[in-house]
Amino acid sequence: MKVSVIGAGTMGAGIAQIAATKGHNVCLYDSFDGAIDNAKNKLNKILNRLVEKERITDEQSRDILGRINFTEELDAIKESNIVIEAIVEDLEIKKNVFSKIENIVNDKCIIASNTSSLSIASIASACKNTERVIGIHFFNPAPLMPLVEIIPAVQTSENTIKNARAIIDSWQKTTVITKDTPGFIVNRVARPFYGEAIRIYEEGIADFATIDWAIRNIGGFRMGPFELMDYIGNDINYTVTETVFAAFYYDQRYKPSFTQKRMKEAGFFGRKSGRGYYDYSLENKPKANEDRELGKKILWRVLSMLINEAVDALFLNIANKEDIDLAMTKGVNYPKGLLAWADEIGVENVLKQLEDLQEEYGEDRYRPSPLLKRMVKENKTFY
Ligand code: NAI
Repeated sequence: MKVSVIGAGTMGAGIAQIAATKGHNVCLYDSFDGAIDNAKNKLNKILNRLVEKERITDEQSRDILGRINFTEELDAIKESNIVIEAIVEDLEIKKNVFSKIENIVNDKCIIASNTSSLSIASIASACKNTERVIGIHFFNPAPLMPLVEIIPAVQTSENTIKNARAIIDSWQKTTVITKDTPGFIVNRVARPFYGEAIRIYEEGIADFATIDWAIRNIGGFRMGPFELMDYIGNDINYTVTETVFAAFYYDQRYKPSFTQKRMKEAGFFGRKSGRGYYDYSLENKPKANEDRELGKKILWRVLSMLINEAVDALFLNIANKEDIDLAMTKGVNYPKGLLAWADEIGVENVLKQLEDLQEEYGEDRYRPSPLLKRMVKENKTFY
């Protein structure tokens, strides 16, 4: 099989590495000066590290690199079975590239986008044969993160869905099928992890270190929200929030925060800029106030908002319940699936917390999903 990847940046290089490791012939294309050399050097380093760690042999490393054709010629993607686009997140530029791709590959070739936030339907509209266009959304770093969201557009054929999923499954990834709606599963359901944590800070309930401690140590999440935003980058994370908010016709549930906007404006992006919510030039991290009662309150508020998003995604048929839970455990390392977690806590307790918040604040942000109410009324569990 021949796999082509368009855009040799963070995601493109990672996807090319996966495909070449699985034994496919890969064509990695980029049009910008130096991008191809960068990708080649980066992949070389990554593979050398894997050899050092004895995950692969020297020979395997050479074979993997040998299977990748690094190119600045788009014509090299000819005869691909699948093309995965991972260029800049800009609809007009993506559409332009899609129509060029379609003119080079044969009729059977699947053309996929790795977009995080654009609609697959709008990208597909640039093609004549829209049935073969689909979203295939990897997570960063692509070779390490097991989850891949498969996003059929309204135009996509059943055959394309089946074949695209089979290819990604054969790469030993966990695939979930999601509707072509803003943020797909993960970037939609995860919004309150950041938003509600920031809100708790803005209200003066606790500082960054304490909120992170509560979510990490009491909740069992691998990272606290502020550590994670600093890791992702406040520029990127804020933009995702703003995009999702606008795409949902300004639903208050997804409202971005001034706190993070100012971080972005100040250039306090996080780890990559040396400063975000935390100052990475300091030897010691600020100390959390390890008050368990306070910690539980913080966790409970963030968790009930996350569960509400997961329930609402199910209510609106964004994906099935198994896929919603898998997406959060395999895509962002949550300690448990949110719907399974809801069963464990009791849906009536989650509903009560949301109703209390909505009553206290009078904000639509806290409105419980109709499905949550229905489940409580009917005394049901998710599993
Ligand atoms: P990046 O900036 O690291 O890489 C983009 C690459 O595309 C660059 O090498 C650039 O030279 C190239 N490029 C730009 N315009 C091009 C064109 N017209 N033709 C050919 N090459 C072109 O970006 P990154 O982070 O890899 O993101 C790529 C895509 O993947 C975006 O759609 C993004 O939303 C999505 N994505 C990003 C994730 C992340 O965490 N970085 C996670 C999942 C998806």
